[in-house]
Amino acid sequence: EHLALWGGRFSSGPSAALAKLSKSTQFDWRLADDDIAGSRAHARALGRAGLLNGEELNRMEQALDELQRQVDSGEFEPREDDEDEATALERGLLAIAGDELGGKLRAGRSRNDQIATLIRMWLRRHARVIANLVLDTCDAIIDQAKRAGNTVMPGRTHMQHAQPVLLAHQLMAHVWPLLRDVQRLVDWDARINYSPYGAGALAGNTLGLSPMSVAQELGFANVTANSIDGTSSRDLVAEFSFVAAMIGVDLSRLSEEIIIWNSQEFSFVKLDDAYSTGSSIMPQKKNPDIAELTRGKAGRLIGDLTGLLATLKGLPTAYARDLQEDKEAVFDQVDTLEVVLPAFTGMVATMVFQTERLEQEAPTGFALATDIAEWLVKNGVPFRHAHELSGACVKLAEGRGQELWDLTDEDFVETFQEFVAPELAPEVRGVLSAAGSVSSRNGKGGTAPLRVREQIVAAKSETEAL
Ligand code: ARG
Repeated sequence: EHLALWGGRFSSGPSAALAKLSKSTQFDWRLADDDIAGSRAHARALGRAGLLNGEELNRMEQALDELQRQVDSGEFEPREDDEDEATALERGLLAIAGDELGGKLRAGRSRNDQIATLIRMWLRRHARVIANLVLDTCDAIIDQAKRAGNTVMPGRTHMQHAQPVLLAHQLMAHVWPLLRDVQRLVDWDARINYSPYGAGALAGNTLGLSPMSVAQELGFANVTANSIDGTSSRDLVAEFSFVAAMIGVDLSRLSEEIIIWNSQEFSFVKLDDAYSTGSSIMPQKKNPDIAELTRGKAGRLIGDLTGLLATLKGLPTAYARDLQEDKEAVFDQVDTLEVVLPAFTGMVATMVFQTERLEQEAPTGFALATDIAEWLVKNGVPFRHAHELSGACVKLAEGRGQELWDLTDEDFVETFQEFVAPELAPEVRGVLSAAGSVSSRNGKGGTAPLRVREQIVAAKSETEAL
């Protein structure tokens, strides 16, 4: 039976060691439904080419229906000695349709064009699932941004207080990259929308089959233009893999933020009990495990991509068995994202911000120093001097263990003396609030409440359009 696929020129079956190395059903069986769909389309192509008569085609389709039924019910499963999903399904078909009819289906196709088509079908379907899960995450972040209203928080660069920003602005900064990831999947789908079925092993088929009709039955808009490219390139699998890794990285960035915000020192956010875990030894603990696992799994998603790229590098140009290694990488990514995303979305949707604490911290750490400098610029002071004068205010306040708003009118009059009229100097106080600071950053894309509301509306309409 080992010899079912290529018995003719072999005098012995595969060694046990080869069979063990070669076997892929433990991971590629999940392509069985797509394989049967491909077989159905291929049988019709054989019918149209006159290689199956009407009655044979009828029986073939019934046999494939029966095979699908047996696969669905678990009655039919790969055996230890089936090399891959295609080998197993061929065995199943022969058992149902008999050797005579069942043996006709292999004409004009190869496992090379089959597998190249199946991985595309499978990935396209799961890309849609993942895109929708990412959009759910975006919706959860956008809802949090809406709820945040005009709450201000410390905006940081290098993790140091930089300028106050709206909490909503900070949150929305995570929505845009995720929306781009979804757009990447949409763009990618247009490129992968070509079927290699009919390419045969590498050179095309001689039997007058129409690859276009097979493509259309399998949901593809077109056929790959080159049979060698169709069977041996995996750039589109790698491109999917990049997007999957990028989603992981984008989620990991927000995870890191949530982990820090959730620490006792920050106390910016509280996680819901249902989305955090306890400690087996320390009763007080409530750990951000979802964020940590998401951050950790980003490493694994990146590893899947780099492993795949390394496999593809340096392959000769047409099918080589190395290409079988594409599957586990992307299967693992899809499985990972399909469990990570719902948990992550639940965590984001249910976390509660400690808005008083955010508001209180927003202007601290001299975060309004830029506002003083910009106020001076508006009063005619060249920025170079304005930067220095504001720096002098910071130095003065820091030396006294104070914040900028603790400085007296006399402090401002004295510090600005050469540049600003004394009766005007104390008016700088007008910009010394976090709310004033964010409102003044009102150019497009800025953190002013009006701009952030515009941004939320724009993001929402993008999620709905995608
Ligand atoms: N299982 C293989 C793969 O996943 C397809 C079979 C091609 N085998 C061959 N000897 N040409 O890529």
